[in-house]
Amino acid sequence: MTGGAGSTACFADYVVIGNPIAHSRSPAIHARFAADTAQDMRYAHLLAPLDGFAAAVREFIDQGGRGANVTVPFKLEAYALADQLTTRAKAAGAVNTLKFDNGVILGDNTDGVGLVSDIVRNAGFDLAHKKILLLGAGGAARGAVLPLLEERPAQLVIANRTVTKAEELVRQFQQYSEQPGILSACGFAQATQGFDLVINATSASLQAELPPLAAGAFGPAALAYDMMYGSQPTVFMQFAAAHGARVRDGLGMLVEQAAEAFFVWRGVRPHTDAVFAALRSQL
Ligand code: ATR
Repeated sequence: MTGGAGSTACFADYVVIGNPIAHSRSPAIHARFAADTAQDMRYAHLLAPLDGFAAAVREFIDQGGRGANVTVPFKLEAYALADQLTTRAKAAGAVNTLKFDNGVILGDNTDGVGLVSDIVRNAGFDLAHKKILLLGAGGAARGAVLPLLEERPAQLVIANRTVTKAEELVRQFQQYSEQPGILSACGFAQATQGFDLVINATSASLQAELPPLAAGAFGPAALAYDMMYGSQPTVFMQFAAAHGARVRDGLGMLVEQAAEAFFVWRGVRPHTDAVFAALRSQL
């Protein structure tokens, strides 16, 4: 393979594509998965120009690329580029995983299933019959709705600062809901039903801001989950802990979405515990 689309992708058959990209932990995660499962693969960063995502992908395919993770700001362009989309990618309206097979570009989305795996398996929190509050109605929230509904919760309430966006999501996902009353929308102040699980899918934590939640949002023994992660608990996690909730950040979601992408590409499911512990120790 020669250089071109991104010299960092030389000799790689898998890449993470974004802009910026140097900070991405995906190459380290996938290198560890490959070593643990004895898969012969090379994974690198690929910096695509902001106006050159599709060209970078096509060049990578020409050079022998077999798959890619896609991150900010290209998840919508990846959706548009794919020849085929999985159901979960269609529902999310965005693609974070591409697989290149016999000239076909498959677009998938593993973010939502990564979230659910982290909650159900790693945190040991069964979602069936639970009351779930999802905060936010942007791309991150949208990707979570279908995988959460598939766990058969009693309720899934989407609360957003701009309530009309939450209502729009509910309209789009009503068809996936088993019964009409399960999925609903509201503003933050109305979310007071004592939820079993509260997921922060807003980008508020990035600015160290807190969605203005009522204390009554957290039920007894609630789990509060922030999709963001860092060396310190987010303001949302601090607020939730002060109201008696168990808290968890999104580091496990990062590792689980990667494991699912690895499975899509290689048909092998890696263990995630050691990677999770290593990443946690490096934060
Ligand atoms: P992402 O891809 O991370 O979901 P996005 O699509 O821009 O990013 O969506 C950001 C989400 O965070 C939206 O739900 C946004 O609320 P609005 O739809 O009302 O804009 C929410 N958000 C961002 N900053 C927020 C804040 N300070 N408080 C509450 N919600 C916030």
